[in-house]
Amino acid sequence: MSAVTLDSVFRLRSTLPLPNLMNIPVHSRDLIYTDWTLIEPQFDPERLRARETVFTIGNGYLGTRGSFEEGYPQALPATLMRGVYDAVPVIYTELANCPDWLSLVVIVNGERFRLDRGDILHYERQLDLRHGLLKRSVRWRSPTGKTLDLQFERFASLADRPVLGLRCQITPIDFNGTIEVQSSLNGYPENQGFDHWEQLDQGKLEQGIWLQLRTRHSHIELGMATKIAVIGTNASFQAANPPGYPTLTATFAVTKGQTISVEKVVTIFTSQEVELPVQAAQNKLADLPAYAVLLEAHQQAWDTVWQHSDVEIEGDRTAQLAVRYNLFQLFISASSHHDRVSVSAKTLSGVGYRGHIFWDTEIFILPFFTLTQPAIARNLLTYRYHTLEGARRKAAHSGYQGAMFPWESAATGDEVTPKTSIPTDPYAEAVRIWVRDREMHLNADIAYAVWHYWQATGDDNWLRDYGAEIILDTALFWMSRLEWHAEQERYELCGVIGADEYHEQVNNNAFTNRMVQWHLEKAVAVYEWLQHTFPVGEASQNENHAATLAQKLQLTSEHRLSWQAMIAKLYIPYDAETGLIEQFEGFFQLKDIDLNDYEPRKQSIQAVLGIDETNQRQVLKQPDVLMLLYLMRDTQSVTDHPDALQKNWDYYAPRTDITYGSSLTPAIHAILAANLGATADAYQQFMQAAMVDLEDSRGNTEDGIHAASAGGVWQAVVFGFGGIQLKDDGPVATPHLPPTWTRLKFKLHWRGTWHSFDLTPPSAQAPDSHKPNIQGFIFDLDGVLTNTAEFHYRAWQQLADEENLPFDRQANEALRGVARQASLLLIVGDRSYSEAQLQEMMERKNRYYVESIQTITPQDLLPGAVALLDELRQTGMKIAIGSASKNAKTVIEKLGIADRIDVITDGDSVEKPKPAPDLFLYAATQLGLDPAHCVVVEDATVGIEAAIAAGMWAIGLGSMDHVGAAHIVLQNLMGVHWADLQTKLDQLKIDR
Ligand code: BGC
Ligand code: BGC
Repeated sequence: MSAVTLDSVFRLRSTLPLPNLMNIPVHSRDLIYTDWTLIEPQFDPERLRARETVFTIGNGYLGTRGSFEEGYPQALPATLMRGVYDAVPVIYTELANCPDWLSLVVIVNGERFRLDRGDILHYERQLDLRHGLLKRSVRWRSPTGKTLDLQFERFASLADRPVLGLRCQITPIDFNGTIEVQSSLNGYPENQGFDHWEQLDQGKLEQGIWLQLRTRHSHIELGMATKIAVIGTNASFQAANPPGYPTLTATFAVTKGQTISVEKVVTIFTSQEVELPVQAAQNKLADLPAYAVLLEAHQQAWDTVWQHSDVEIEGDRTAQLAVRYNLFQLFISASSHHDRVSVSAKTLSGVGYRGHIFWDTEIFILPFFTLTQPAIARNLLTYRYHTLEGARRKAAHSGYQGAMFPWESAATGDEVTPKTSIPTDPYAEAVRIWVRDREMHLNADIAYAVWHYWQATGDDNWLRDYGAEIILDTALFWMSRLEWHAEQERYELCGVIGADEYHEQVNNNAFTNRMVQWHLEKAVAVYEWLQHTFPVGEASQNENHAATLAQKLQLTSEHRLSWQAMIAKLYIPYDAETGLIEQFEGFFQLKDIDLNDYEPRKQSIQAVLGIDETNQRQVLKQPDVLMLLYLMRDTQSVTDHPDALQKNWDYYAPRTDITYGSSLTPAIHAILAANLGATADAYQQFMQAAMVDLEDSRGNTEDGIHAASAGGVWQAVVFGFGGIQLKDDGPVATPHLPPTWTRLKFKLHWRGTWHSFDLTPPSAQAPDSHKPNIQGFIFDLDGVLTNTAEFHYRAWQQLADEENLPFDRQANEALRGVARQASLLLIVGDRSYSEAQLQEMMERKNRYYVESIQTITPQDLLPGAVALLDELRQTGMKIAIGSASKNAKTVIEKLGIADRIDVITDGDSVEKPKPAPDLFLYAATQLGLDPAHCVVVEDATVGIEAAIAAGMWAIGLGSMDHVGAAHIVLQNLMGVHWADLQTKLDQLKIDR
């Protein structure tokens, strides 16, 4: 059988090369992270589609990818609306791409603004997560040499969901002329070449245009209307109505330096909310207040969201932004106004998995909502209630009772997982997709989410009216599906796929069986609760609620008795003595694997070995036993062995295809590693999950946001690093914060009360183990490995001379280890300069410096440096650079030692410079090491202070005057050997 991963089968064919995850530094260099804003400082056409996903905005009603208003070749623009599904061959149904509301074309004296022509003199895109705003500023020179500034801004209103806003501010820099802006609704959106829409009608309004369409099969009608306003000058307007593409054009004259704003507002309704969508869109448009008023209301709505759902992290800006980013993407994908839709695996940000809904929602995404936005959680679960009919059809079709939720779900709850793959290679065989028939743990996953929602909210009425029916009817399915094996006197569940999809037909999967057992336990409990809590039903005064439901579901007391028997006798394979749970019967007999044998690789193990061979190996696509132990963490899971978690972790984690298996893995591993106290490991896994889309580390971000991973990120923060346990009287924290995190704050809503957590680490301490256990070295760059100090000095000197500031070699001594801005302030002294001048001077100095470091060669390494680096690497030591310089990477490359360095952290990595410990702590985290296991090599006083504050061992190079506070002081690295350093460090410990 061909070696094809099922995951890749339904992806768009990527035009991007698949990056090797192992080589990607965790900190992305081409995006900038501030606390609330994600900044893309340059336009890179190679990343076009992935970034369209990353810059998705939305409001739970719809999501719009970050495509450009003016378009771009190869772009994949999409606006996806929750619940707007339509039929399509093979994969049954998909979210239909809706008309593009962004379209805005700017024409300057007849030349059309587009990024693939002319010159981009400046470009910056910003996603403001705090206020749900996407902005782009561009300075563009047209092919004939006209320069203009364009500032775009867009939002999908959170205050008034059918409303969308877009503004473009235009400033001609070096010309006077005429500008034409064409604003359209593009009625020809497509899903990979497939058009879901019939054009019904379109027309003009007094100052606007409208469009009416209908999906071809599901007959969902859609109405849109839009108008534009031009602020800052008089414009003439024209409406044109080419079929499917109504367009408004504003034309106006501009003079050099003048800024004109064009404001576009759009309204959009479907027949899922209103009877006459196009009418509703027109009426709404007519009543809309000004753009600024809409924007203000939208921003206020976001304030409210963050008041409840924010997570604050101090000491790690990348993690701070990444966490907020993931929460933002989750939030905009879920509806707070509708309970017949749910979050799909790729949110509303891309066409991957076609908008289908998986267990990702209940198990990965829901906890964030349940505990911070319970009304949304309720909607997502009510969606399952409304799709019970489909789930009943699925059960009945397979000959079972009750309800069997589909592995992939859409509008109705009928199974929409494709039966086979769709190979793009004309000679490849289609691969049968078995998950639709065999991966059935979803029933229990949904019951789990229902139960936890009820536990967290105490929402008895919802459980009575919706949740109970879900739990009971799905329990009936299990009852008919379990098999009694008389010989062994046990119930078994055979022929399934567990959470790990690499094993496609197994018996007695521990994860599924224990989840089923738990589900049946809760079904019994819910039925009893219903009987006792609501003795009188609403339908009839004489009947109690439980009885009404039992009648509807044909649930008898014999059934409930058989549930009890099944709970008692359901087989789960494990070894009571060792605490090791067997993933399924026979797993331990499969051929073992050492995943290291396959590194480096750029694809999943299933793609490397082929489907059949992978089935025969002890290799996991994603956590299965570990997933079970995580979900059952507050319950006695399978075994009461005291070390069960550690034992199973040690066995299963190394056999899990964490890099290219499922993106659901890293967050779950992070939580368990944190719970086991392996914080550095936990952090690495956590960052893999948190950055999966920001860095496109799996190469498939263009298909949409990895929503389950995003939900897992929140769980990793709260249940992993925060160590939250949900107890009857409220959540309790046992934090294990990553080394650089100085503070972690979040809120949880538990049974009607908000609980605020403000967690800090125990105060940083000097290393204090018995003997130093050194596992890594962090080298400062300047003055330690090379003498860029000289290059810096010359650049500063040139600047000082130009500015007539007193400066010389001696004054330069005070700048050792000091960051750029602080250095400049020292040189400037009391001379007064404006902010902008200082900025310019720093840029100038940097230019001089960057020019000069291009001449660096390996000859510029200081004596002893390479020898020591090589020796350290041979002993297995990890090596980082921790330098205040912002050009550390270039210098390392020019010195020819990049292959000897694991991690480069520099002036961009953290906010606070040395002597704050942040940079070194960050480096240690990136290396995956505890600070106490790291040695810092430094030549500057501030660097030694930073190392000590970080709780690391410090080696100072140079005079006692400068580095006397270090644990060891050396002249330089010449003739320095690891063995000698180790002896000295051990000695030090004894002396203490
Ligand atoms: C996934 C399944 C999914 C199938 C079809 C596979 O790659 O692993 O969970 O159902 O694709 O969409
Ligand atoms: C995973 C499933 C997941 C699906 C959708 C698959 O690759 O194996 O567990 O539900 O993707 O994210």
